[in-house]
Amino acid sequence: MRTAIYPGSFDPIHNGHLDVIERASRLCDTIVVAVARNLAKDALFSLEERVELIREATWHVQGVEVVSFEGLLVDFAADRHADAVIRGLRAVSDFEYEFQMALMNRELSQEFETLFLMPSQEHIFLSSRMIKEIARLNGQVAGFVPAPVAGALARKLNLGTDT
Ligand code: PNS
Repeated sequence: MRTAIYPGSFDPIHNGHLDVIERASRLCDTIVVAVARNLAKDALFSLEERVELIREATWHVQGVEVVSFEGLLVDFAADRHADAVIRGLRAVSDFEYEFQMALMNRELSQEFETLFLMPSQEHIFLSSRMIKEIARLNGQVAGFVPAPVAGALARKLNLGTDT
């Protein structure tokens, strides 16, 4: 595969996302990590901060490009001539939402293909929402996120640097 897009909110990127990016990079030449400007969601990190954190977390992965996008994913994928869109599947609970989104995207654009990758078992329980909640409540998140993200969370939430 030449180009795949890995879209998401990434607020912030965690080790499960990173695991999916590393797996995808072994399957395609270029993986475009695409951070959505999602107006419906109240993000902790700005779009620019999320992009920068992903760049810092993925510097060691070959073929990764990190960008932000606005509008429909199908339009962004067409603009980038992507062969496929990658989404991570953690558990059955993800399936309904992902299935609906994949079929809706295919309805919007017949060429649109979604590929699902499963992160390794040790990351299956991770979610950005829970990580932010744990960090807000002064819990340890260093084992769940890349190092730059742990630091950024601590700074953003005004916590000690041992978060
Ligand atoms: O990490 P998330 O929040 O689960 O990612 C969801 C995302 C960004 C992939 C999805 O909301 C999306 O594709 N947004 C772009 C707008 C769009 O195309 N909406 C229609 C989806 S069927």
